[in-house]
Amino acid sequence: MGHCNRCFFTLCPLLLLLLLPSSSGADLQFDFPAKIRDLNLFPSQDVNIVRHPNCHADKLVEKPLRFPNLLPAQSGVSLDNLAHSAGYYPIAHSNAARMFYFFFESRNSKKDPVVIWLTGGPGCSSELAVFYENGPFKIADNMSLVWNDYGWDKVSNLLYVDQPTGTGFSYSSDKRDIRHDEEGVSNDLYDFLQAFFAEHPEYVENDFFITGESYAGHYIPAFAARVHRGNKAKEGIHINLKGFAIGNGLTDPAIQYKAYTDYALDMGIIQKTDYDRINKLMVLMEQLHARLHILFVIRYSIPSCHILTISMWYYDIRKKCEGSLCYDFSNMEKFLSIKSVRDALGVGDIAFVSCSSTVYQAMLVDWMRNLEVGIPGLLEDGINMLVYAGEYDLICNWLGNSKWVHAMEWSGQKEFVSSPEVPFTVDDSEAGLLKTYGPLSFLKVHDAGHMVPMDQPKAALEMLKRWTQGTLSESGDDAEKLVAEM
Ligand SMILES: *[C@@H]1O[C@H](CO)[C@@H](O)[C@H](O)[C@H]1NC(C)=O
Repeated sequence: MGHCNRCFFTLCPLLLLLLLPSSSGADLQFDFPAKIRDLNLFPSQDVNIVRHPNCHADKLVEKPLRFPNLLPAQSGVSLDNLAHSAGYYPIAHSNAARMFYFFFESRNSKKDPVVIWLTGGPGCSSELAVFYENGPFKIADNMSLVWNDYGWDKVSNLLYVDQPTGTGFSYSSDKRDIRHDEEGVSNDLYDFLQAFFAEHPEYVENDFFITGESYAGHYIPAFAARVHRGNKAKEGIHINLKGFAIGNGLTDPAIQYKAYTDYALDMGIIQKTDYDRINKLMVLMEQLHARLHILFVIRYSIPSCHILTISMWYYDIRKKCEGSLCYDFSNMEKFLSIKSVRDALGVGDIAFVSCSSTVYQAMLVDWMRNLEVGIPGLLEDGINMLVYAGEYDLICNWLGNSKWVHAMEWSGQKEFVSSPEVPFTVDDSEAGLLKTYGPLSFLKVHDAGHMVPMDQPKAALEMLKRWTQGTLSESGDDAEKLVAEM
């Protein structure tokens, strides 16, 4: 199958159809390493299941975080009165899981909403987002940390968590803590939040929002539903859940997979003849899919990837990977291995697992599940949802996301569908196209691929700010005026 490796770096919608749910360990032998190489991530360890956890006791381990190599900010931010912390919380209903997290107090006000970010994968660490997307700092090539002018901590009290267990610095001494579905994932996240708010009661009253990207399109709706259910049942500390946002997510695979060819045709990646041929195959696949184990379908359709070989990158169709390098996250691994940094984080001798193939494989049974089903209930209860997508991402493209959002049945569906698309304006220019009705918003972000906060940091920060403040649907100018008047 060596010759097929190449296909994973090329655009082959049919293969993509198969790439995502390549749902068995056997196929991952070539699939996953390719994906990791794509991100230029080479974790020294595959998963954090540790034999003798001697570094962390049963109770909370949390400490103020002071990175040793943070450069002074230009704009007068001072760390002196900002609460930054990192550490581990034991996960209450797990066997022995410890979840690692970062907390960054808002640079603006402690009263800002609490926002949690989840990176996808499944099995990739949220540090990817901390240092390359929306965290307070960026890593310079000389391993200094530089303040990020568009960190989401400018408008929120920002939490990142390494999850599912085994990812990033999160670990367990018990293999049973590896999760296989959204029930397990969302229960652990709920336990994590309970631990966080128990330790930080000063933030309990704040608005709370869940955000994330990519495979988090699965985690987020499940997590939001879990929090809402806990609130209704008065299960633990009440969490002031106001909304959840999914960026270039995978939420309703059946609809989103069908949209690959539509998107590829629209973008001129494939011709109509390819489109027809692939769609025919897809119908066939669907029938097979319904009847047979997915593995079978993947195995036997791989040769068909040769129908198209375009060297294009599925996280951003505008770009070509240079050599084997698409994204370059190597600075992060370098940075997180520095002794003084590890001491600051209090991670003991736990390895950093940037993307865990074990966690990824364990979640494959969850891949094709439709997570849209729990969303209408949340909308009806007044919880807001924002779905946004960078327009040049193929893997979780905006079209597929737009399709499931439009197809979703809820009391405001008709009104949402007929609502006008309006420009999302940042600095007097159109940064995206927005459609909103009631609690539901959809935003197509211009000039961005899979990782919107990386590609369009300013627009992403504006988006978060307006959305959490409830002013997203006002035009940019109005929103700015409003803020100016206040
Ligand atoms: C490291 O890089 C940053 C950002 O480029 C720069 O501001 C800083 O002066 C550099 N530090 C050293 C010690 O070279």
